[in-house]
Amino acid sequence: MNVADTERAKTRLLEAGYLISESVQTSDVVIFNTCSVRERAAQKVFTRIGEVRKSLSNRRPLIGVMGCVAQLEGETLFDVSGTVDIVIGTRAIDRISKMIESALAGQSRILDLGEHLEEETWNINSQVRHSPYVAFVPIIEGCNKFCTYCIVPYSRGRENSRLASDVLNEVRQLRALGFREVHLIGQNVNSYRPKSDAGLEGIPGATPFSKLLRAVAATEIERIKFTTSFPRDFHRDIITAIEENENLCNWVHLPVQSGSNRILRSMRRGYHIEDYLKRVDIIKSSKRKISLTSDIIVGFPGETQEEFEETLSLVERCQYDSLYIFKYSARPGTPAANLRDDVSKEEKAKRFLVLEEIQKGIQKNIFRGYVGAEVRVLVEGVSKKSNLDMTGHSTCHKVVNFSGDSSLAGQEVMVQVTAAKANSLYGALVEGSLT
Ligand code: 5AD
Ligand code: SF4
Repeated sequence: MNVADTERAKTRLLEAGYLISESVQTSDVVIFNTCSVRERAAQKVFTRIGEVRKSLSNRRPLIGVMGCVAQLEGETLFDVSGTVDIVIGTRAIDRISKMIESALAGQSRILDLGEHLEEETWNINSQVRHSPYVAFVPIIEGCNKFCTYCIVPYSRGRENSRLASDVLNEVRQLRALGFREVHLIGQNVNSYRPKSDAGLEGIPGATPFSKLLRAVAATEIERIKFTTSFPRDFHRDIITAIEENENLCNWVHLPVQSGSNRILRSMRRGYHIEDYLKRVDIIKSSKRKISLTSDIIVGFPGETQEEFEETLSLVERCQYDSLYIFKYSARPGTPAANLRDDVSKEEKAKRFLVLEEIQKGIQKNIFRGYVGAEVRVLVEGVSKKSNLDMTGHSTCHKVVNFSGDSSLAGQEVMVQVTAAKANSLYGALVEGSLT
């Protein structure tokens, strides 16, 4: 989401005639994008601003803060640091250039924490995309779920879905520009509920999201991935849509957060483990081999050793292809921040390592199972580790490296897997597989 926000801000700045520089040394305005899902995000941005100011001893560019920290801290950012000039809320990105103009005209403490305006568009300039082949396409912003530990509903506001007609136009344009993969993104993509069915007329599907998936598949862009899915809103028809369309990729990210029903209730996740496992069974019993990934928080307030062990059993049962593990930490302003954070730091660290170890073993087995198989890879560039290797992602969203030259960038190829690493696969290009 943050990458998408940066792309949106850059697009608006280009439209207004600004030049984008990645170096603070040559910039007249420096904008910091921030994320509060991370711990101590506000402190981190102050430290970073301090570093930048120090490196520019005789220059004083305008400094702006956007993203979740901007939305949550608002006015106080001016007072605490004394060096912030512009505070751009999460729904004010489209007004960034006006805010900079006011600051350049000499106004101080420029702040906008307002909502999106009706006429604002979600379009992104292809020059500022993070990759020339893979594009993030936001389909829904905000969140209505209010899990007790999470800051997102406060930092990003209520769910707001983009019209399907708008999404489809963007995907068609991306395809025409040579992009080969789109990631439909949002906090909860499968809670997608646009104000009208423009663009989805006559498209079959049990929910607006599964209709959208079929409509995007019909644009014939080569690959479509989507993240994140919310368990309670995950319906069988999403898997049916994947089975019907080769270009809907075989990967689902379905965060469970905990394996204990009592903790799930305290997190206010809105489902029981039994409901979650039903979804997992639907995914795992598909005729497509769909990879499954998840997020888990260890050490939520009140989590006992037994409840943590329920999480371990769940992880064994689900056999995730990959897992993001977080140690609980209170986010001020959330309901869970009022609970006693009674699992010690040491205990959280221990649980993290135990879970990580179990996941490593599971992943090793899953990744080993790919050796000898062929996977379809979109080549994204030269590997960071070795310039003799190219790197990309498979349709099941695994990092795949293989020996090859840079002319393959942007192509979809078949790679035969020869070795499984802890977090990636290694293989050889299948001759004649270039598409
Ligand atoms: N503490 C720890 N992890 C958190 N996450 C969200 N809020 C917190 C918090 N307060 C994790 C969740 C979510 C992921 C993006 O971040 O697992 O799915
Ligand atoms: Fe946060 Fe829960 Fe919304 Fe995910 S579903 S963004 S964890 S409130």
